[in-house]
Amino acid sequence: MSTDIAKIELEGKSYELPIVIGTENEKAIDIAKLRAQTKYITLDPGFKNTGSTKSAITYLDGENGVLRYRGYPIEQLAENASFLEVAYLLIYGELPTKEQYDEFIASITNHTLVHEDMKQFFEAYPPKAHPMGVLSSMVCSLSTFYPESLDPDRDENAVNLTIHRLIAKLPTLAAWSYKNKMRHPFMYPNNNLDYCENFLHMMFAMPTSEYKVDPVVASALNKLLILHADHEQNCSTSTVRIVGSSHANLYASISAGISALWGPLHGGANQAVIEMLEQINADGGDVDKWVEKAKDKNDPFRLMGFGHRVYKNFDPRAKIIKKACDEILNKLGIDDPLLEVAKKLEAVALEDEYFKARNLYPNVDFYSGIIYKAIGIPTEMFTVMFAIGRLPGWIAQWKEMRENNEPIGRPRQIYIGENERDFIPMARR
Ligand code: ACO
Repeated sequence: MSTDIAKIELEGKSYELPIVIGTENEKAIDIAKLRAQTKYITLDPGFKNTGSTKSAITYLDGENGVLRYRGYPIEQLAENASFLEVAYLLIYGELPTKEQYDEFIASITNHTLVHEDMKQFFEAYPPKAHPMGVLSSMVCSLSTFYPESLDPDRDENAVNLTIHRLIAKLPTLAAWSYKNKMRHPFMYPNNNLDYCENFLHMMFAMPTSEYKVDPVVASALNKLLILHADHEQNCSTSTVRIVGSSHANLYASISAGISALWGPLHGGANQAVIEMLEQINADGGDVDKWVEKAKDKNDPFRLMGFGHRVYKNFDPRAKIIKKACDEILNKLGIDDPLLEVAKKLEAVALEDEYFKARNLYPNVDFYSGIIYKAIGIPTEMFTVMFAIGRLPGWIAQWKEMRENNEPIGRPRQIYIGENERDFIPMARR
């Protein structure tokens, strides 16, 4: 950490503010005491320049397309690790030894069932219920079955139990939200299968027929989940941290994160991308026309899956996913016209001055939907898949926030409304 200072002048007075420098030389002006000293606050809609915390979990360099979890490059993790290994790394800070991993897996496997009473909740939802709405409610509902988890700081073992329960049960809840939508019978978890295989089993097996998990599909899912596992202080993670900062329990905090993820500007973009590609394909596949629409400020259409708040060169996850997309479709022998539309769209946009000038590149959501589609995941479940992947990151960030005993998140504002005025009775308005 630095001893440097920043100086600001306000109303003729000079103030000194500490400079904070991270391990990768990221620099910040520490304004924690600014208001107390000067009566000024900073104004930064969308928090484009605001660091909300010091974190040791994920490093992201948007200019150079770098993403590392706990120091390990995303490329190496996506190629070599299992999703639960990465979850352990994010949550506990180090890659697990064989013994730690076996213990972790045993605990997760032991908690995959959800309480039988929860089945009734599912049955009350209409078939058209979006699975993200169901998932967010179900995760919050878990807290009602484990009242001891309402105190988020009870003790380390209790917190770990909640963490393991969440990781174990989220795929069950996710798969059941789909089964319920289809009005198909729920498939119970099969604890002889690994995490990804088990999810696929709960999604696609039927009591009437045998279902064998395709290893190509399970491995593609493992890679996608790793690529989504954390992304430092994005919209949903900031939501999880801010909800948790009021000392709300972990279930409630994660449920809020799922809701934040749902929006099409965030995790909901993966569903929006496929819907967009289908629309372009059905319209004849004229990508130039749609690129022009995306540039037209009077047209609400945007290229979904393009642009990112922090990546201004390329999204390293998109690079891995694009390659994986080709490989998986080849291995599965699928010829999806949407992949061709996506590639054409990307090529046109990347050569276009509008997109170049604004540093707009494909993000993680641009190609992920094509893989999800190829492995049989229905479009409305895409953001649910994102949530399963992001869960370890949300948990790690929540845990770090609580362990650092961070203060309640409470931004300020600049009020621009009416000055004081007297109430007027309705008859005189
Ligand atoms: N299509 C067309 N124009 C775009 C796009 C796009 N996808 N994204 C940004 N722009 C333009 C904006 O209109 C703006 O232009 P202007 O400077 O002429 O006004 C400029 O690029 C900057 O965009 P902002 O919206 O200010 O950038 P911001 O950082 O606030 O938003 C966001 C980032 C939300 C991701 C945006 O790029 C977007 O809406 N993309 C499409 C949705 C999407 O793919 N979201 C997933 C993001 S990744 C994730 O969350 C997992």
